[in-house]
Amino acid sequence: MTKITGEIEYRHGKISAELGEPMLILDAVRIHGLVLNNSCGGKGSCGGCAVNLLAGTYTQADGREFTVEADQPVRVFACKTRIVRGPFRISVPRRSLVETGERVVADFVTKEYTGFDPTVRRFQLTLPMASLEDTRSDFEHIAEILRDKHQIELIGSSLSAIRQLPRVTRSHRKITVTVAWMNQRWELLMAEPDSHFAIEPYFGLAVDIGTTTVAMSLVDMISGKIVDTATCYNQQIQKADDVASRIIHASTSEGIEQLRALIVHQTLNPLIQTLCRQQHIEPAKILRMVVSSNTVMWNLLLGIDPTSIGAVPFEPTCRNPQSYRARELEIGIFPDAPIDVVPSISAYVGGDIVSDIEASHMTQTSEPSLLIDIGTNGEIAIRDETKMLVTACAAGPAFEGLRISHGMRASIGAIERITITDQGQCEYKTIGKAKPVGICGSGLIDFLAEGFRKELIAPSGRFNKDLLGKNQRIRLMNGTGQTLEYVIADRSETEESTGDITVTEKDIETLVQAKGAIFAAIRILLKRLERSINDIGKIYLAGGFAKYIDIHNAITLGLLPDIEVDRYVIIGNGSLAGAHIGLIDRRAWNAFEKIVDSPQVVELNLDPDFQDEFTFAMFLPNYQKELFPSIAKQ
Ligand code: FES
Repeated sequence: MTKITGEIEYRHGKISAELGEPMLILDAVRIHGLVLNNSCGGKGSCGGCAVNLLAGTYTQADGREFTVEADQPVRVFACKTRIVRGPFRISVPRRSLVETGERVVADFVTKEYTGFDPTVRRFQLTLPMASLEDTRSDFEHIAEILRDKHQIELIGSSLSAIRQLPRVTRSHRKITVTVAWMNQRWELLMAEPDSHFAIEPYFGLAVDIGTTTVAMSLVDMISGKIVDTATCYNQQIQKADDVASRIIHASTSEGIEQLRALIVHQTLNPLIQTLCRQQHIEPAKILRMVVSSNTVMWNLLLGIDPTSIGAVPFEPTCRNPQSYRARELEIGIFPDAPIDVVPSISAYVGGDIVSDIEASHMTQTSEPSLLIDIGTNGEIAIRDETKMLVTACAAGPAFEGLRISHGMRASIGAIERITITDQGQCEYKTIGKAKPVGICGSGLIDFLAEGFRKELIAPSGRFNKDLLGKNQRIRLMNGTGQTLEYVIADRSETEESTGDITVTEKDIETLVQAKGAIFAAIRILLKRLERSINDIGKIYLAGGFAKYIDIHNAITLGLLPDIEVDRYVIIGNGSLAGAHIGLIDRRAWNAFEKIVDSPQVVELNLDPDFQDEFTFAMFLPNYQKELFPSIAKQ
């Protein structure tokens, strides 16, 4: 079959493309190293993957073929349009492209973390010349030098490193060795002739695999500093967008393999390529990857059947997996690079909250404290000097932009701040000061709180019907029916092809359910610890967008407990922080293991009070008004 050739243009230049067969633009762009936004998982409903066709022949979803005429660009969704003949030319607008440096879901604060004992190290050393007097092997010489000079006890070697060694030492006695801490011992990872004055840079990856969003940081292993970060949606949302439905999808071998391939080949490897391209480094220079995630996500990454997690008694196959090789998991970095997973506490309380706890240092303070990680799975930990309790609740992906009509990830063009004037009009700010494309989690929280404060939204979560006809931003959806929506940005203000950006009553219901699940879980843990919120010294706030939440607004809508704002400590993406710590400080793995063994897991669905607390929390801010005294006063 003749190849289909063409060009893909994006803001950093042009890529010459060659396809062996007709394929979706989304796939064609991906195999050439660019990743498009696709929050709807390719269903054609989010508009995140819009591209402009400048030349070529294509088919639409209904099979209709069309050819783009010169000077008549056509805007299409890459997930619904197939390239059939070249030469094609496709222009990818910036807002459709997943790029590095998206700040929100990746930011975290670990200022106080000072440990540096990296899990991969590289040394230049000179081996003694081989002689009849000293018949020790090259490996023994290397081990002795590392022990004497660097206090490294080298125990083993990867197969490829030991195969490499004689080829290197036969002609060079000055060599560079790279060693990795793997399954509680140091092993030789690489041996090369030393032809450099200084140690060649090498890198690691810290990865937070969320149910909805994945964040990946490229880390310089010599300094421990983060060089760059990229984020994208977890492509498993193409098959199922929450943990429970992913477990169901994984109930067959074929389903597990589909989900494994989606996280490895359509999420992690494209993010690695994006980071490497932006930083001009070879993927083979990446020598380790540490993953922090909930239990189901790392089970699927390793190809483990997670179905036992979904049924009583909710037992995972294991809680603390060993290190594996990149080649075993088909991760596109140095093939022998170790891949480590932060251990889980239980089936539903995963390595992500272990990372949060370690990054927050909450176990090192004497006062009672609470940790809340707002994600698709809300995870909560509470502790005092007697015990620690943890739980997880199914909050859903609403605060990450999914299942919301105009929701999106916090990237360029996302409305991140909203205020409502006394006249009921809307003012907003977007990320990157770009034309608005959608609304991200912090913007949605602002809208709910401001709408409630200005009495556009009733405590029941419904729009105030009396304003219909008086406030032109409130209207019936599609001009008919009973359901109301509020226009945040008119189509004249938004990015081309976006249309009006609105929040509907259905969106509000979805958001209220998410906040209700998290707040009810907090209430249950407080009751179990026999503490009131006033006993809690600090509340640590984790999660991709925690750093950007207006805490006062989150209290107003009843998502967070009503205490002084200065008792909140923002740690941001603690899961990514934990992966980073696990990469740069070997001792963190002992801390992770201690955390895993200490808490008592609370199963919310077995708690007799949970359903009542959840029902109370389905009001703004809560049916139990006394829990929100500062809001009642307003
Ligand atoms: S991925 Fe194409 S419209 Fe959502």
